[in-house]
Amino acid sequence: MIVDMAKSSSQTSYICVVAISLFLGNLFLGAQARTVHYYDFVLREINVTRNCTVTTILVVNDSLPGPTIRVQKGDLVYVKVHNQGLYGVTLHWHGVKQPRNPWSDGPEYITQCVIPPGTNFTYEVNLTEEEGTVWWHAHNEWTRFTVHGAIVVLPREGSSLPFATPDGEHLIVLGSWYNEGTSLNKALEMEMSIGSPNVPRATGYLINGQYGDFVPCSNETTPHFFVDYGKTYLLRIVSAVVGTEMFFTIADHNLTVVGMDGAYTKPIVVSYLMIEPGQTLDVLVTANQSPGRYYMAAQRFATEDMDFTKFAHMVATAIIQYKGNYSLTSPPSFPIDTLPFYHDYSAAASFVQRLRSLATEEYPVDVPHNVTTRMFITASLNDLPCPDDSCYFGDSKIGTSLNNISWVDPSVDVLQAYYRNISGVYTADFPDFPPEMFNFTGDDLSTSLAEAAEGTSVKVLNYNETVEVVFQGTNLLEGSEYHPMHMHGYSFYVVGLGLGNFNNETDPQMYNLVDPPKVNTFGVPKRGWVAIRFRANNPGVWYWHCHIDRHMSWGMNTVFIVKNGDTEETSMRPPPSYMPPCIASKEDKLFGERDHNLKSDI
Ligand code: C2O
Ligand code: CU
Repeated sequence: MIVDMAKSSSQTSYICVVAISLFLGNLFLGAQARTVHYYDFVLREINVTRNCTVTTILVVNDSLPGPTIRVQKGDLVYVKVHNQGLYGVTLHWHGVKQPRNPWSDGPEYITQCVIPPGTNFTYEVNLTEEEGTVWWHAHNEWTRFTVHGAIVVLPREGSSLPFATPDGEHLIVLGSWYNEGTSLNKALEMEMSIGSPNVPRATGYLINGQYGDFVPCSNETTPHFFVDYGKTYLLRIVSAVVGTEMFFTIADHNLTVVGMDGAYTKPIVVSYLMIEPGQTLDVLVTANQSPGRYYMAAQRFATEDMDFTKFAHMVATAIIQYKGNYSLTSPPSFPIDTLPFYHDYSAAASFVQRLRSLATEEYPVDVPHNVTTRMFITASLNDLPCPDDSCYFGDSKIGTSLNNISWVDPSVDVLQAYYRNISGVYTADFPDFPPEMFNFTGDDLSTSLAEAAEGTSVKVLNYNETVEVVFQGTNLLEGSEYHPMHMHGYSFYVVGLGLGNFNNETDPQMYNLVDPPKVNTFGVPKRGWVAIRFRANNPGVWYWHCHIDRHMSWGMNTVFIVKNGDTEETSMRPPPSYMPPCIASKEDKLFGERDHNLKSDI
C-alpha cells in the first residue's frame, strides 16, 4: 500500500502514502486513489524584527507565514500539532469541509478546547471537493495573526485545470502586524473585560510576512517574485489579514481571477482586487510588460465611518522582477493609477459584483432552488448591558450581534455538549428573524434599538434542509461596516447582494441561480445585504461568524448544528480517542496557572 515516501526540503516534514479508499458520503462519491500526507507543525515563539523593532511572535515551524500544505484534490492530511508555545491554541482548516467530522475543525469552544502547552493533537484534514487554494489558521482569540498558512489543492492525477496550465505559480499570503506580538491576546482580553471599543489595531499589513519597501528597516527583506517575459503565472492569494478588507494590485499588469475559496470562477480580467479576511483568490498574471521591476501593493479598504482615521494607512509591497539581462536603472514602478483609495466603495462593489462560478458541465452549480429554511439575520454593532457599572461606558459595553444576540463562549465546547447531551452549555433557540423590523440601514437610528442580549444560542437544522440566509447589515450606532461572513463545514452560493434594506418581494427576483459564486466567506456590504444558499448535507457542529476578529470577539457569531441523516454515511463520526480537555478559564489560559492537570476527562 505504501507507494511513495518523501521528506520535504522545507522545515515541514511529511510523508505520503497512497491508499485506495471508498467514500460513500454524498460530498464525494466513488472509489478513488487518494494520497495520505503527514505533516508536523511545531508551534513556538521566536523573535523577529519588523519596522525596526524586535518582537516575539508565535509561529509554526519557525516561519511567517507558516508551512504550505500541498495536496491533490481528495487527499487526506494528518497534521500533528506540537504546542511548544506558552498558551493553548487550536488550528482550523479554513475552507476544508471536513465531511461528518467537526472534531477536526478547530474553533475554540465550538468544536474543541485548546491544545495545552507541552502537548500535541493530531488533526485529520479531509479534502473532498475543494480545488484551488484554501488555508489554515489558529482559531483561538487572535492567535492567527502569526499562525497561518496556505493549503494548495491541485487537480487530481489525470485531470487538468479549467484554464491553460500556467508556466509557474507564486503564493501570496496577506497578513497584518500587531506590535503586541505574543501579548496580543492579553491586550485584547484586558480591553474585552471592560467592554472597551479600544481593542488592539493592526500597525500595518504584510505580504508573505514582510512590510516591503515603504516601511522603515524593511526594504532588505521585501519579497521578490521572479518572472520570465511572456510567461503566465498563477498567483494564489490568501487573506490572513485579521481585521480588514484589502485592495491589491500590480503595477501595469492585468489580473485574471480564475478561482476563489477553493472553487473555480469564470475568468474575469481586472486591474485590482478587493479581498476580504478569510478569502482566497486564484489569479493569473502574464509577464507581458517591458522587462523591469513592478510593485505589487496591498492596502486597506476601510469601511468604518469615514471620520474614523486611526487605521494603518501604510501600503504593503512586494516586487515582481523580470529575469534576464537589462539594467535596473529606475525604482520599480508603483501602481499609482490602479490601487483604489481606502474608502473606494464603488471599486469594491464593482469587483465583487463580477464574481461568478465557473458553472460548466465538469464544474456544475447545484444551488438549491426550493428553500426549506429561510432566515433573515441582522449583523450589528450594539450596546450590551453591564449590570455592575464596571464597564468602559459605565452601565454598558460594546458588542456585536446576529439577530440581536451577542455570542458568549461556553466553557465546554458546543460539539462535546451536543454529542454527549450535556445541558446548560448552549440553547437551541437562535431566531430566524430579528426581534424588530426597522429601517436597518438608515441614519440616526434610536439607540434603544442597539440594545442586544448575550447568549450561547445556536440554530439546529435537519439533515439535507435547503437553507437561505439573508444577512442584513445595520447602521446602529452609526456602526455599519463590511462583515465578511464565514461558514465552517460548507461552501455556500451567493445568490444576491445589494445596498439598503433587503426587499423580500423584489430582491429575490434578481437572484442569480445560474452561476452564483461558491465561497466560504463573503462580505455583507456596508449598509447593505447579501443572500446565500446551501444544502445542509454535512452533519455536525459548524461555526459561522464575521471573519473580522474584532467583530467576532464582540459576539458576531453563532453555530449551525446539522442533525444526522438516517444512515451512517449521513451521520456525524464519533470523536477520536483523545480531544484536548476543557479545563482552563480564559483568565487562566492567558494570565498564568500553568500546572493544570492536563489529562483529558472525556
Ligand atoms: Cu477562517 Cu472560523 O475561520
Ligand atoms: Cu464584521
